[in-house]
Amino acid sequence: MTALLEFSQVSKAFGGVLAVDELSFTLDRGELVGLIGPNGAGKTTVFNLASGVQRLSRGEVLFRGVKISATSPTRIARSGIARTFQNIRLFRSLTVLEHVLVAQSCRSASLLTQMLPFASATDRTLRRQALAVLEVFGLADRRDELAVHLPYGGQRRLEIARAIATAPELLLLDEPAAGLNDSETAELSGILETLRAQGYTILLVEHDMNLVMRLCSRILVLNFGRLIASGTPAEVRGSQEVIDAYLGVAD
Ligand SMILES: Nc1ncnc2c1ncn2[C@@H]1O[C@H](COP(=O)(O)OP(=O)(O)O)[C@@H](O)[C@H]1O
Ligand SMILES: [Mg+2]
Repeated sequence: MTALLEFSQVSKAFGGVLAVDELSFTLDRGELVGLIGPNGAGKTTVFNLASGVQRLSRGEVLFRGVKISATSPTRIARSGIARTFQNIRLFRSLTVLEHVLVAQSCRSASLLTQMLPFASATDRTLRRQALAVLEVFGLADRRDELAVHLPYGGQRRLEIARAIATAPELLLLDEPAAGLNDSETAELSGILETLRAQGYTILLVEHDMNLVMRLCSRILVLNFGRLIASGTPAEVRGSQEVIDAYLGVAD
């Protein structure tokens, strides 16, 4: 079966820096895979290449077997890849609910309803769906507040909620637990478990190793843009190269 996402010999250079170096990996439907490595290893660049925000220097990125390396970010988003950013990017003037409503229209309005206006969901249906998403993310009670008034952990959850609202086939999460306290991290962990159980395909960049090791079935390890290991959490944790490059002390 065709992989949902495939990187084939992908390189990305910034001047003299090879941020991603001959990287190959595949992601199958329903997998929750971790992408880890030290700062500057190339993790965010992988997301930028997969979402079309940056152009690769060499190689190919395939989504559902179709080459997307030369496709615009908008078209890639419409085709079903959603991402969050390492730094929060919310709209100052939109409420929590409005963030989700805008995101819903990204795919549904653009694809279906352009061709078939009569197939457009009613406002009430969209609102109900948006509220269901907010419910999963523990944000339904705060739907009418400005998003920027949410506490930090709430803003991070809203970013993921907004990505989910586009009904993606692939979700790219860039350090969702960064800056969260213990209870917020636990809440996030529960949400990721729910998404995994619902069958979402997720590529997770995260420095919280407890979270990554517990949630991911498979982990890819980058160092200086190169894949230095990939395997189950146990395999990766036991790899001397990974310990030297990133994990530090072994258990
Ligand atoms: N837009 C850019 N211009 C120049 N260099 C960049 C740019 N983006 C990333 N880099 C460099 O590419 C490397 C990988 O960065 P990044 O993908 O952000 O790493 P990570 O997310 O793993 O911390 C780093 O050396 C970084 O400085
Ligand atoms: Mg990064």
